[in-house]
Amino acid sequence: MTSPLVPSRAPDLAARDGLSALERTKRQPLMLGLFLPIQNGGWTPSKASRGTDWTFDYNARLVVRAEEIGFDLVFGLAQWLGADGHGGEIKYRKNSIDPLLMTSGVAALTHNIILISTVHVLYGWHPLHLAKFGATLDHMTGGRWGLNVVTGFRPNEIDMFGLDAIPHGARYRMAAEFTEMMDRLWRDDANVTWEGEYWSLRGAYASPKPVHGRPILVNAGSSRAGLEYAAKYSDLIFITSPGGAEINTALESLPAHTKQVRDLAAAEGRDVRTVINPHVICRDTEREVKQVCKSILDGEDPLAVDGLVGTMRGGDQTSWWGHERQQRIIGGNVQVFGTPEQVVDQFIKLKAAGCDGMQINFFDFAPDLEYFADRVLPLMKQAGLRTD
Ligand SMILES: Cc1cc2nc3c(=O)[nH]c(=O)nc-3n(C[C@H](O)[C@H](O)[C@H](O)COP(=O)(O)O)c2cc1C
Repeated sequence: MTSPLVPSRAPDLAARDGLSALERTKRQPLMLGLFLPIQNGGWTPSKASRGTDWTFDYNARLVVRAEEIGFDLVFGLAQWLGADGHGGEIKYRKNSIDPLLMTSGVAALTHNIILISTVHVLYGWHPLHLAKFGATLDHMTGGRWGLNVVTGFRPNEIDMFGLDAIPHGARYRMAAEFTEMMDRLWRDDANVTWEGEYWSLRGAYASPKPVHGRPILVNAGSSRAGLEYAAKYSDLIFITSPGGAEINTALESLPAHTKQVRDLAAAEGRDVRTVINPHVICRDTEREVKQVCKSILDGEDPLAVDGLVGTMRGGDQTSWWGHERQQRIIGGNVQVFGTPEQVVDQFIKLKAAGCDGMQINFFDFAPDLEYFADRVLPLMKQAGLRTD
């Protein structure tokens, strides 16, 4: 990962099969994504040594490499933190690049991989802005751009924008109107006039029109309102294990949760795919896995962990309620640790629990991604979880 930034050498699959990136991804028995570490510390508030880096170059190389080894998607989270980030010695997540702009930067370096950016649509955006920017990104990527619509739940964030707090239900009603306005702008080939409850369009027009009707839409809610939003508008939903990050409790709680998503989507006549976010620690032996976990836990940066947990438990979001503080040191909304065989076995169980995709965090992203490519991907193919 020290070579100059180069475009991916992956073949252009759309030229070969004529499918959209989303259609191709949905054909995989288990979708595979990478959760990009565009914030310092990624998902792991530990001082243990690693090369993971929040910079554009590091993340762009990860994206290019993820595409080369056949991953379906990459994703960047968005957050707004103060001068110390989440705090601690590492000033966890103080440094971060914006996922929308990061995605735009890697668009021309890649051919096939879906690039998902998070945008807090209620922090001062107008639907016309994001319809235009999104359609542009959709064109730049040949229909590979995805928008993770988040409403924001951290009180300090809304304060940063000088806005007043918005109740939970109203946030999702606003997100729905925002999404419907973008959708009209993406689809209508005439000027749009629409006096909404929260935004207005007067003779508005967005060009270019997206390649496949509209960009890929994603959200990451857990509440009833969040799931209903997903059922109506999203192609993918990033789900959280209601039973916490430990694999067995996660596996117990996920079937009911994934069924709820499927049922709500079916009631809307839609197909919404569920993607969970495992933190993968994989080595040749269990002993090595335990050593890696121990070194991360020994390196805990307690104030950074407290800062992260404080924001997860603060506000009125419901995603992380079943998760323990201790699980946040390594991270992930489910923890998949073990040898390559054990990791694949846990993926099979997560699929059986209704997860359509894995979007993976690593501790030391670049070498861990290489190890995953060498040792885990072939076993996933053997197990029928991935096709070429
Ligand atoms: C995988 C994943 C990624 C998320 N990414 C972001 C993000 O980038 N920014 C953000 O503010 N919230 C993010 N969230 C939080 C959700 O958008 C949502 O606010 C939260 O899960 C609460 O859902 P609820 O409003 O339905 O209770 C993410 C959640 C998950 C599970």
